[in-house]
Amino acid sequence: MLVYQSVLVVSVVQVVMCRADVSLWPRPSPSWTPVAGRVLREALTGPLSGHQVMLMVDDGVQRSLSLDLLLTGLTSPTVLLHTTTHNTDNHFTTQQLPTAQDVLLVVVGTGSPWLLWSPPGWLSPRVVLVLVAAQTCSARKHFQSPLLQNTPSVALLCLNHKPQTPEYSTYSVMTHLPLSANPEPVSLGTWQPDTFTTFEDIFHDQYQDFEGKVLLVTNNLDDAPLVIQNDNGNVDGICVRILAGMSSWLNFTYFINSATFDWGERLENGSWNGMLGQVQRGEAHLVINYFTITHERAQDFDYSVSYFTEGFGVMLRDPPPLPHWQSILYPYTGVVWAAVGGVVILVTFAYYFVNISDLSLSLVVSFLIVLQSFMNQSVSQEPRVWVSRGLLGLWLLATWVLRVSYTSNLMAFLTVPAFQPRLTTLEQLADNERRLCMQDYGEFVPEALATSSDKILATLGAKLDLVPTDSSLEFTGEERCVEKVVAGTHNHVETYSYLRLVFRALVPDANVYTLREQLYLGNLAFFFTKNTPWTYKFDVGMRRLVEAGLVWQWYSELMEDKHNGKVGESRLPVLSLSHLQGPFLMLAVGGGLATLALLTERLLQPSPLTH
Ligand SMILES: *[C@@H]1O[C@H](CO)[C@@H](O)[C@H](O)[C@H]1NC(C)=O
Ligand SMILES: *[C@@H]1O[C@H](CO)[C@@H](O)[C@H](O)[C@H]1NC(C)=O
Repeated sequence: MLVYQSVLVVSVVQVVMCRADVSLWPRPSPSWTPVAGRVLREALTGPLSGHQVMLMVDDGVQRSLSLDLLLTGLTSPTVLLHTTTHNTDNHFTTQQLPTAQDVLLVVVGTGSPWLLWSPPGWLSPRVVLVLVAAQTCSARKHFQSPLLQNTPSVALLCLNHKPQTPEYSTYSVMTHLPLSANPEPVSLGTWQPDTFTTFEDIFHDQYQDFEGKVLLVTNNLDDAPLVIQNDNGNVDGICVRILAGMSSWLNFTYFINSATFDWGERLENGSWNGMLGQVQRGEAHLVINYFTITHERAQDFDYSVSYFTEGFGVMLRDPPPLPHWQSILYPYTGVVWAAVGGVVILVTFAYYFVNISDLSLSLVVSFLIVLQSFMNQSVSQEPRVWVSRGLLGLWLLATWVLRVSYTSNLMAFLTVPAFQPRLTTLEQLADNERRLCMQDYGEFVPEALATSSDKILATLGAKLDLVPTDSSLEFTGEERCVEKVVAGTHNHVETYSYLRLVFRALVPDANVYTLREQLYLGNLAFFFTKNTPWTYKFDVGMRRLVEAGLVWQWYSELMEDKHNGKVGESRLPVLSLSHLQGPFLMLAVGGGLATLALLTERLLQPSPLTH
């Protein structure tokens, strides 16, 4: 059949043909119905062409005019949702539905069509076009319906019925400004395919001006650098600055509560507690603070685009510097020292064997000759055999390279303090013997770590110790973890920027550093009550603030503000006598040995002067 050629029919319930109304004697369609069909086709081929359209026809309409008539000659691909029951929630899960549709086209009749007044929960289109297929049109009432109230942009087509010449009836296009002081529908003119040619001609931006609407914002004031309360009582932070920018652009005012709440999690019965609970119940319009976009939150809330990316950081104490006297050993690693020792023995034997004809050269003398060049001493006895000359020459060259590399490395170690290498990855953190410390304020991290199937994360979870929240302390208990880090028993887990600020405030001089890798890196966003129609305006505004670099600029400002002018101050210690312990020790030992050798020689060999 031509009619359904390009129409995908999703039949929800197949009972439609059994209904008594669809009888053997259908009522004749009203004479204006061809007009409705024509307008529908013109809308689909004109301004809606190129968009994914989902068409829903109210069952009241199907009684008075035939679907076939409405759909005759449709050419653009359209999904027809054919339903005759209010309980579509029982038949559908969101996953089964064609979600790519951005336009919902609803054909309704008279009364309060359930599609508008109790829309199924999964229905959240970007724009809705309502065609009223009835002689009377209560535009004002339709605009009050939940579906149209919750949709960013809506338009309504109302019939101007001409009783004498119904075939010349026309349709007028209406929209509304939901935040305006005057809630009357706005007429955009009479439907003509050549006056409404583009999408923007029908669907206007209804939320260009919030007209001074008051937005209730719930937040937690202890969340630097996102939300903080200054010493003088003002609320500041990245989120607050974003909100201020949005409010002057969209013309709304906002009310930030000054209480401190929990973040909130989903309970067994599906409702949320904490700040997210306030937003879910509609007691607040949105929540700012450290909220990452998670699957669970995305199901129950609307959210903005992300304005910042941050995860949980780990603060560690610097490994202790190596003892100074050992500095003479640092230039080479253990393996190199062992290799040098091995080569010395090898060369000693080699030199002894190539000179085996020379009876005056014992193994001990051979060893001393090999060692001589280490001490930068020339060879006193030039060997006669050419093989042994070559060997000695090569050895001199090798020791020269070793001497130079050793001296250079030693100088480097003396001028730059030698630390054990810092940790950079989570894998190294899992292998580290120190435990982890975190404040227990209901964050998902402890549980996520403990139940993780990833080996590294599970190891971290097993090492995590929680400390209780204590609101009498300035940082509500973070202090306890900070103490443990300074004592060297634990590493501290907390949101990355906040962690750095806490340590700067509490122990500005501590030798600590943050792990380069972050845990559960996430995208921070604002969360709104589900089906808030104007979140797209926040998306546009916040994307602009991010792309212009303002959010990053504010971040830098807020992070350095707290730094008390210590930016760039070097932590390098001054080179002191104690750093030279090793070389002096070696000098003393060498001098002692030389003196001992001299004395032994004097005692064993009678002085030539005595004869
Ligand atoms: C903001 O909204 C108020 C209240 O409706 C209105 O009086 C004012 O003109 C608006 N300001 C701008 C700049 O549109
Ligand atoms: C869910 O449970 C909490 C407490 O356990 C209760 O306060 C809340 O009202 C419940 N919500 C619903 C929708 O039943």
